[in-house]
Amino acid sequence: MKIDGQAWRTIWLEPGGRSIGVIDQIQLPHQFTTRTLRSCDEAAEAIRTMVVRGAPLIGVTGAYGLMLALQVDPSDDSLAAAFDQLNATRPTAVNLRWALERVRDRVAPLPPAERAEAAQVEAGAIADEDVAMCEAIGEHGLALFQKLAAARPGQTLNVLTHCNAGWLATVDWGTALAPIYKAHRAGLDIHVWVDETRPRNQGASLTAYELGREGVPHTVIVDNAGGHLMQHGQVDAVIVGTDRTTRRGDVCNKIGTYLKALAARDNNIPFYVALPASTIDWSIDDGVAEIPIEARSPEEVTHIQGRSPDGAITTVQLSPDGSPGFNPAFDVTPARLVTALITERGVVAASAAGLQELYGDV
Ligand code: MRU
Repeated sequence: MKIDGQAWRTIWLEPGGRSIGVIDQIQLPHQFTTRTLRSCDEAAEAIRTMVVRGAPLIGVTGAYGLMLALQVDPSDDSLAAAFDQLNATRPTAVNLRWALERVRDRVAPLPPAERAEAAQVEAGAIADEDVAMCEAIGEHGLALFQKLAAARPGQTLNVLTHCNAGWLATVDWGTALAPIYKAHRAGLDIHVWVDETRPRNQGASLTAYELGREGVPHTVIVDNAGGHLMQHGQVDAVIVGTDRTTRRGDVCNKIGTYLKALAARDNNIPFYVALPASTIDWSIDDGVAEIPIEARSPEEVTHIQGRSPDGAITTVQLSPDGSPGFNPAFDVTPARLVTALITERGVVAASAAGLQELYGDV
């Protein structure tokens, strides 16, 4: 996608191939800056601190992190240690493990001297495939939105989204926002309700930033406003991403997603989840019981970051001294609340049969 007329991806191999460039998402929306990651340690730290975030993007960063480790030491021990280090940075999004396994399985049979280069090729392929998958999700989602719009001639299509599942969460295009970009570019009259998404505010900061740069009409709302808007006919569809999708179609996404799905069901509003195949964890069925939920620092709840009038990015305290905070970062929406999954292969029911129909060959 473009920032001020220049096309960007969220991650790239820098000239010389011994470092990785990323957009620094901690500084957005107030400053657009990039960072260079020169080692596996730096890649792991960037994922852990959310300089890069979003399930597909942390997968690609992990893949390049393995490459950086192998450039220094291509031994079996180094490969195993780097894998474990990167895999431990964030536990919920399965794309990280998936991408690490893909690179490891590609390079492990090779002689050590050939591993770093093979890792670079594999990480690059994962990144390129992610772009292609997200664009295909956009096309399938566009067809869905066109149908919804056709049922409301002359009216704006109001779509609600939670967290950031846009191009910043992937390599390009995004998952849940890809159909929105496609729809806007196709001339559909679309407006997006953007959940702020406490505590890290990925909606208010990143989704609003992305939509603004693309010129998509949008409005930021507090997380608690969605149910009210749905009751009053102001939401035609909900679309979100997922960090891990189980074999039977349960989806794990940013904390608060489940409440939106419940409200959507109560108001008879379609609730769509957009995902690339890299987000499916074929080894589990029951998302609530089986997906590890990341618990982040309570300080993300008790404090909040923003820009002060003098332009400085600053953090202020919200809660009284001594009040503890608790910060589960994701929740699980059971498949029964999901109207459909929008994947790079098409739109299907959130069920084992639906996923099998699309991915029977995997
Ligand atoms: O904690 P984050 O910002 O990494 O969480 C991101 C999300 O929950 C996204 O919705 C998710 O990665 C799926 S869309 C790419």
